[in-house]
Amino acid sequence: MSSVYIHVPFCKQRCAYCDFCSQTDLKKEKRYFLAIQKHIKSVADETFRVDSIFFGGGTPSVVDAKHIVETIETIRQSFTVVPDVEITVECNPESVTKEKILAYKESGVNRISIGLQTIHDETLKKINRIHTYAEAIEAVKIVNGCGIENINVDLLLGLPDETEDMFFKSVFAVSNLPIKHVSIYALEVYPNTPLGKAKGFKYMNEDEVADAYYKAVELLKTLNFQRYEVSNFALDGYDCKHNTYYWKPHHYYGIGAGASGFVGDVRYTNFDNVDQYIQAIESGASSILTSDVLTIEDKMYEAVMLGLRREKGLNVSKFEKRFGKTIYEYCPKIHEYLATGVLQKQNGRLFVRPDKIYVLNSILTELLS
Ligand SMILES: C[S@@+](CC[C@H](N)C(=O)[O-])C[C@H]1O[C@@H](n2cnc3c(N)ncnc32)[C@H](O)[C@@H]1O
Ligand code: SF4
Repeated sequence: MSSVYIHVPFCKQRCAYCDFCSQTDLKKEKRYFLAIQKHIKSVADETFRVDSIFFGGGTPSVVDAKHIVETIETIRQSFTVVPDVEITVECNPESVTKEKILAYKESGVNRISIGLQTIHDETLKKINRIHTYAEAIEAVKIVNGCGIENINVDLLLGLPDETEDMFFKSVFAVSNLPIKHVSIYALEVYPNTPLGKAKGFKYMNEDEVADAYYKAVELLKTLNFQRYEVSNFALDGYDCKHNTYYWKPHHYYGIGAGASGFVGDVRYTNFDNVDQYIQAIESGASSILTSDVLTIEDKMYEAVMLGLRREKGLNVSKFEKRFGKTIYEYCPKIHEYLATGVLQKQNGRLFVRPDKIYVLNSILTELLS
């Protein structure tokens, strides 16, 4: 299992909550993609078997489709791309066109992820999204009409002035669209963003957010969207490889500004400044801002973190086989968590009790401290 992540740091407009690496100056798109392609060629390795390619952003759909197509071609020439590779492109509703989607499809793209966020237009305005809900529905229809059936929509939970009922209406409405996958992300309000600095909005408290999340999980279950990871829900057979790989030990190249990768024992992150990234690649210098060689301790820590994020949990005997140590030897606190029922064990797998999954991050922090 290995994959390639390509970061596309361009957007037509910045959303008020966003802290991701992206800019609205699209003039550099051509130079950026030449750098991307040079970067891929510089790490070419035909023994690297690619099962998943993910164009994330920023907004990959905002750039000329030929850049996406040429980048896929470069990946195919540089690695061994398996025949049933999953190729995802993240799109914003306003930049989805039939021409673009057909060009993606022609080059092998078989999964489209659309940032819909909420069905409420007044909320979309408050968070400075560029599109309306009607435009998001239209984007889903275009993608579906072009014959790409594996569609995800992203929803945000805990938006400004959003009530539980409003969120629930969004979940219900999108579950009726012709899609196969839903991602629900709890909004993080970063202090350095316009939303972080804005005053006067009312937010649900933590308990209300958790309550809304669990109700959404139940609703999606009745509609056959199964949760396979804390934020991700899919119809049978449509779990996203890119997401599931993130929670399994695997190697991936991170290409582009701010992208992270893990190859060999090295985890690295590229320069998150677009100019710095382009200049480094153009001049043949390293594009890496930080890198760490993972120790066996780091890998055990990660195996527990990632394993417990998954609905299926962590395979106890695989952990022992991989590290020559039982999970209980590595983390004796697990006994306490099993005794209180927060962790459970079934069929050789250790998992967080489903109704506690939403507070997983704090459980993991305490467990591994
Ligand atoms: C980084 S965006 C890239 C895709 C596309 N530009 C978009 O906005 O839909 C991917 C997803 O991250 C989520 N996201 C972005 N900022 C977030 C934040 N502050 N808190 C939680 N989720 C966030 C949104 O749901 C978004 O759809
Ligand atoms: S469109 Fe997506 S990546 Fe761009 S600013 Fe908005 S949330 Fe961030």
